[in-house]
Amino acid sequence: MDDFEPRIVGFCCNWCAYAGADLAGISRFQYPPNLRMIRLMCSGAVAPVYVLEAFKKGADGVFIGGCHPRDCHYLEGNYKTLRRIVLLKKLLPQLGIEPERLKLEWVSAAEGQRFAQVVTDFISEVKKLGPSRLRVDARRPAEDSHQAQAAAVEAHK
Ligand code: FES
Repeated sequence: MDDFEPRIVGFCCNWCAYAGADLAGISRFQYPPNLRMIRLMCSGAVAPVYVLEAFKKGADGVFIGGCHPRDCHYLEGNYKTLRRIVLLKKLLPQLGIEPERLKLEWVSAAEGQRFAQVVTDFISEVKKLGPSRLRVDARRPAEDSHQAQAAAVEAHK
């Protein structure tokens, strides 16, 4: 499990968390390269189905970054996100996904160092959890099919 590198999908709002990630890059605050970031105009634009789809497609963790409360450029988008996260964390165990695999953080455009820190911490939390069960399940048929093909090739030699 030590060599496990989690795949993290990050949904970041354009105005704060994404700008914070930019600042982290410009300031050379290091964080592991496991995060694949998707920029949205507001964390409130992260529909629950996006999160579920990310897990379905093999993400080991999903990170959502938005503006601090009262700083959302669309007034209440981040409050909407907060309510969705509460519901998603209740739903995820029903799908065999640990709720700790979903993380919401508020990061301002001025918090490059904080962005690097929360992402680093989240990646290490997901590392401890190991691969997502959905990722493992998604892989199984392909591996089985590879083994079946290899066996068929061997049989025809
Ligand atoms: S604009 Fe950043 S959370 Fe709404």
